[in-house]
Amino acid sequence: MSLNPADIFARHLPDPLPDPIAAEVFAPSNIALAKYWGKRDKALNLPMNSSLSISLGGLGTTTRITGAAQDTLIFNGQALPSASAAAAKIWSFVALFRPNGPPLRIETQNSIPTAAGLASSASGFAALTLALNAAFQTKLPLETLSQLARFGSGSATRSFWHGFVRWAKGDAPDGSDSHGHALSVDWPEFRIALLPVDTGPKAQSSRDGMAHTLATSPLYAAWPAQAEADCDTVERAVKEQDFRVLGPIVEANALAMHATMMAARPALSYLKAASWARLDALWAARAEGLEAYATADAGPNIKLIFLASQTDDVQTLFPDATVIAPFNERRDPSAP
Ligand code: PMV
Repeated sequence: MSLNPADIFARHLPDPLPDPIAAEVFAPSNIALAKYWGKRDKALNLPMNSSLSISLGGLGTTTRITGAAQDTLIFNGQALPSASAAAAKIWSFVALFRPNGPPLRIETQNSIPTAAGLASSASGFAALTLALNAAFQTKLPLETLSQLARFGSGSATRSFWHGFVRWAKGDAPDGSDSHGHALSVDWPEFRIALLPVDTGPKAQSSRDGMAHTLATSPLYAAWPAQAEADCDTVERAVKEQDFRVLGPIVEANALAMHATMMAARPALSYLKAASWARLDALWAARAEGLEAYATADAGPNIKLIFLASQTDDVQTLFPDATVIAPFNERRDPSAP
């Protein structure tokens, strides 16, 4: 018998839930250094491969939940109409946690500058899961919350911790071992730069993009094993704080993911001409000695990783870059 998401939530939650209390939580955004691309189980949102990310310090989502007379969703200060696709996704996730009401007011605020072009679904669903856990006083461990947040967005599994986080793909058919865990690595010199290319909404969701790549790309067959091996290499390099190994593998992993999409039929390209212009500029500077490497997700924006010694050169090359020091701007999830 196949499991559905409601069964998984019911395993972890009391029935009935207690009345909600007011709760406010924070979850950081994250960027994958070894990417997740493709699901082995769509209903349970289980990934083909493990992934590993860095959380973005104080950049992320703050979510506040209170009881209300009717369900209300406020997103960055604006009421979100319940007919919108974003609201539908959020309420269907809330319904898994709270199958029998009561009505809630959910206010969510992103501290990620919209102009930085960073997706907010990872921190958004992690903060929502933390807020529901706090409001209903369910006191679930972070690993369990990470597992539940997976039903909102895969990358949300990695937004429950500060620093480097690995989302193990897991093997259990019910997905109980497919959640994030923190790597205890403190790397104060580690830097990220966000290079905006186009900050409008993306043309195709990652959910649709993954499904299309899996169904039609002849290159996808090579991805799961390579991605798993890359994730292991990234984990080792992070633990050894070996940037010479880390930088090249992170860039190669991201470009391999984009190559699987470009080979889809018809082709899927989140990278635009302006993304390639950024990559060309980076590669030319690297030939002159700059030690920075690129990554990109399901959108045209480019992100760089480098160490503190390279910050001035990165900022000279890309004056519009937002530079983040994730270990210096630490903000622990759920402690607003
Ligand atoms: O979390 P989702 O379902 O939006 O997928 C995220 C996919 C990538 O951002 C491209 C890669 C990743 O691991 O975050």
